[in-house]
Amino acid sequence: MPVNNSIFQTSTFRLAAIYLLVFAASAAGILGYVYYTTVGLLERQTEDTIHAEILGLADQYRLLGVAGLVDTVQRRSRDAGGAIYLLEGPNQARIAGNLDAMPPGVTQNQIWIDFPITVGQEPVAVQHTARGFQVELANGYDLLVGRDVNELRQFRDVIREAIFWAVGMSLVVGLGGGYFMSRNFLRRVDAITGATRLIMAGDLSGRMPVSGANDELDRLSGSLNDMLSQIERLMDGMKEVSSNVAHDLKTPLTRMRARIEDALRQDNALEYKTALDQTIEECDKLLRTFNALLSIAQAESGQMRQGLQPLDLFDTLRDVVELYEPLADEAGGSLKLEARPGLRVRGDRQLLAQVLNNLIDNAMKYGQTSADKPADIEVIGRVDAQTVIIEVADHGIGVNLEDRERVLGRFVRLDESRSKPGNGLGLSLVASVMTLHSGQIQLENNRPGLRVILRLPLYTEAS
Ligand SMILES: Nc1ncnc2c1ncn2[C@@H]1O[C@H](COP(=O)(O)OP(=O)(O)OP(=O)(O)O)[C@@H](O)[C@H]1O
Ligand SMILES: [Mg+2]
Repeated sequence: MPVNNSIFQTSTFRLAAIYLLVFAASAAGILGYVYYTTVGLLERQTEDTIHAEILGLADQYRLLGVAGLVDTVQRRSRDAGGAIYLLEGPNQARIAGNLDAMPPGVTQNQIWIDFPITVGQEPVAVQHTARGFQVELANGYDLLVGRDVNELRQFRDVIREAIFWAVGMSLVVGLGGGYFMSRNFLRRVDAITGATRLIMAGDLSGRMPVSGANDELDRLSGSLNDMLSQIERLMDGMKEVSSNVAHDLKTPLTRMRARIEDALRQDNALEYKTALDQTIEECDKLLRTFNALLSIAQAESGQMRQGLQPLDLFDTLRDVVELYEPLADEAGGSLKLEARPGLRVRGDRQLLAQVLNNLIDNAMKYGQTSADKPADIEVIGRVDAQTVIIEVADHGIGVNLEDRERVLGRFVRLDESRSKPGNGLGLSLVASVMTLHSGQIQLENNRPGLRVILRLPLYTEAS
């Protein structure tokens, strides 16, 4: 899969660009409103004043004739203070006012025009901009009234410039910020992609980079790393199990083969029969190993979680104890059950029965310290708060503190118990069935011996 390195195609950049557009649009809206209410208002006020003056002068012309109009225009022109007047006769000759001639461009009646004017006397005369309105009066007279709008235009330019820079700067800063943010984001995504590549190439110990910022990318990397650790653990477990399985199969198969070969060489019907009987026995053992492995795999897959049913563990305890009682009696030991109905859990009856089987089997095997001291086993079932507790205790050799975690692993057998049959899968099944049932297993010193304590959540109608 090709890596897309374009910053402009990152979601961060796109987001920044969209955000920038929205921001620029709203800023332009606000600034436009400010412009309209300041510069626009002043310009409208000037135009309204000019308009009102024109109307007033036109009235004077109508009432007092040319003489009255000329008189007013002359008076006003003297102390104008920024006001501009020009009255022309029918032959375009200037009659009154403080402007020398009609500005060029005035060809139509009733129009607004901007024109330059000279303010002050030489040598300090300066050019200003004026805005005016021109009307044609009756009998061919032309009247122009205007105002010096130089300051207004300067103010308008300042505001326009400010708006231009504000919008321009926000665009530049926004784009730059988006670019840097995206580059940073892209760099981190590239680092994650690189780490993924390494892991895919076979380095299962590789992990996603974590920047320490504790942001969403770090959280994503964190969960991916947890997942990778889990996968690595499972892979290691699988490797170990397959090598253990191979090893555990090899010995009985070699033994079986040697025995059959030996029997064939003897050429004797009785030898054949014995060899076949022993082969069947070996096969049964192998099948038991496979069944135990399959049960563990089944419990660990977690798929059975949906199929768990409410049940009373008391019934299971009673059944398993009944099964083992004759064996314990026969050996001269004892097997005591101390429980009452009501050990309700949500579980798989068969797997839980297998768990109890394994624990009592262990207690029978390892609870016996010497040939003349058979095992005394105690099985307890009780409810404490919201937990169902099952205990299986013996008075045998026990398990040292440092081995208690280890014996839960697959194919783990302690040196002291090598003389007893078994392949080290019993407690692994117990542990995985406990995980399936959201329960716990704890190994304790029974002084002497081992006390295995199982804790399962109590099933109530509400749960
Ligand atoms: N009650 C116990 N007392 C002392 N040691 C025990 C006891 N239960 C288990 N162990 C130790 O833990 C090891 C693992 O037990 P586990 O039940 O998993 O396997 P196993 O009994 O050896 O074989 P399997 O159960 O597969 O027939 C045993 O080999 C033994 O060393
Ligand atoms: Mg066992």
